[in-house]
Amino acid sequence: MSGHNTQLAEIIAGLKKPDKMISPKYFYDERGSQLFDTITHLPEYYPTETEFGIMRDNIDELADLVGPQASLIEYGSGSSRKTRILLEHLHDLAVYVPVDISEDHLFSTAKKVRAEFPGLEVLPVVADFTKPFALPNPAIMPLRNIFYFPGSTIGNFTHSEAQQLLDVMYQEAGEDGAMLIGVDLQKDPEIIERAYNDSAGVTAEFNLNMLTHLNREFGFDFDEDAYSHSASYDDEKGRMVIELVSGRDQVVTNGDESIEVADGETILTEYSHKYTLEGFAAMANRAGFKVAKVWTDDDQLFSVQYCVR
Ligand code: AVJ
Repeated sequence: MSGHNTQLAEIIAGLKKPDKMISPKYFYDERGSQLFDTITHLPEYYPTETEFGIMRDNIDELADLVGPQASLIEYGSGSSRKTRILLEHLHDLAVYVPVDISEDHLFSTAKKVRAEFPGLEVLPVVADFTKPFALPNPAIMPLRNIFYFPGSTIGNFTHSEAQQLLDVMYQEAGEDGAMLIGVDLQKDPEIIERAYNDSAGVTAEFNLNMLTHLNREFGFDFDEDAYSHSASYDDEKGRMVIELVSGRDQVVTNGDESIEVADGETILTEYSHKYTLEGFAAMANRAGFKVAKVWTDDDQLFSVQYCVR
């Protein structure tokens, strides 16, 4: 695949930075996707269950806000329970457009949705949603585009990247378009840190699996066993910082490239930004959106926000 070399170059560039980093998108090989699915069921990992509960409790109001004959465009297809509740309740949906970089994952999702919703047009798009992409032409002309961005995936992006993403969504949404987005909220740091340091060690395995993935698919030779998982909340920046820490000096090679790693040196694998309601609204407003409705759970752990043009 032609994207492979571009990705390898991107990974090597990240490892050559003074503060080593690898994009969280490299978590998601087959094993990584399985581990993430396990994470969403862990007692400590509150976001998935909380977001689903918010959707379930408010789905009728949400469906009325969206109105009939919308096009539902989902960024990152996969959160099946949340998607299903929308597909079941939105009025007279015109088309469902899942967007994902993983073709395998995307087509298996599309197949499942087609089987479950036989009357619904499903038009999967293989694309990196951080870059502008063309929307497909559905058989039925939708009355409005709804961009669905669940799971607080927005949290993976820095504030400036997230702003850019919302700016692009605003442009692509078109007249009468809207965005439905799941946003994790700032709260007691202990609750947040626990969600990324689960007692079963699944998040650690998920993090370490990135190296297994890079060794297998991209030809690196990280000593995975020497690495350990680290996840802590930066209160000032309002984000989880997830890293891999080397327990010894090592030289990691890839073809002609070699990368020196010191004992105790970290690789940043993920940020997970948490927002205040005000902070997110300000960002949405800068993109041109107006936050029309915010739903949260009783403990204000998580929010689902409906933003209009
Ligand atoms: C998929 C980005 C929303 O940030 O909580 C979960 C990923 N990483 N545990 C998150 C994740 C470790 C997750 N997102």
